[in-house]
Amino acid sequence: MIDLTGKVALVTGGTRGIGRAIALRLARQGCSVAVNFMRNRKAAAEAIELLEATGVKAKAYRANVGNEKDLHDMFEKFHEDFGRIDILISNAASGVLKPAMELTRRHWSWTMDINAATLLHLVQHCVPLMKDGGKVVAISSLGSVRAIPNYSAVGASKAALESLVRHLAVELAPQNINVNTLSAGVVDTDALKHFPNRDEMISNSEKKTPAGRLVTSEDVADVALFMISDYAKMIHGTTIVVDGGYHVVA
Ligand SMILES: NC(=O)c1ccc[n+]([C@@H]2O[C@H](COP(=O)([O-])OP(=O)(O)OC[C@H]3O[C@@H](n4cnc5c(N)ncnc54)[C@H](OP(=O)(O)O)[C@@H]3O)[C@@H](O)[C@H]2O)c1
Repeated sequence: MIDLTGKVALVTGGTRGIGRAIALRLARQGCSVAVNFMRNRKAAAEAIELLEATGVKAKAYRANVGNEKDLHDMFEKFHEDFGRIDILISNAASGVLKPAMELTRRHWSWTMDINAATLLHLVQHCVPLMKDGGKVVAISSLGSVRAIPNYSAVGASKAALESLVRHLAVELAPQNINVNTLSAGVVDTDALKHFPNRDEMISNSEKKTPAGRLVTSEDVADVALFMISDYAKMIHGTTIVVDGGYHVVA
């Protein structure tokens, strides 16, 4: 039993998909949870309803995690509401899905900024609020190490994210803060609707995954729970892959 009573977590993009599953997983262990979102207020309200039904304190903040002022304002409210943080799940992501030959410098900068640099800014806001050490988990994907159609910019941004995780891990370990990456295989969330080759990605992944099915948001949430628990206290700066064995298949 992992008891998170008295702990406080922030899950960016925690109102839908993988982020929501992680937020709920933490709440069910007694953790107070703040979730962040960008546009979809209805999904945010639904997420808060589900989180509060577990009996914990829950808040939702609208902020574009790629925008400095939004982040600043969000942390002001978060500080007022919770006063501390123990767990940061950096999950919200965005980016331009196009073949490399069609990418502009603007596409590249936007994607790198929102998916990689954001972790740095989130951590800079969170560390002063981590009064008793902390756990940081950044959500990545197999595109950081594999070539996936239309994924050049996002894949490169996830590779940068994973590198940043290693550097942060070394810098923050002496403060009793664990920083790690959780990298997932294909999960059938709303995010997949933006892929021009969605159907092919899903069927290919279903066929090639040794475990015989797609990864679910709940599979990812289970591993996130382990990573923020005391069982993982000596894991620093690594990437844990949750993909049913997909990445080891030739
Ligand atoms: N799905 C997959 O196959 C897969 C595989 C591996 C890794 N991942 C990673 O898992 C993470 C979550 O993906 P998902 O599939 O769960 O996505 P999703 O279902 O599309 O949910 C995205 C969430 O992030 C929020 N969001 C998006 N851009 C934001 C921004 N700029 N600022 C603040 N919040 C923002 C959304 O808010 P709104 O509701 O307001 O839009 C929503 O809550 C991402 O890091 C993704 O790269 C996904």
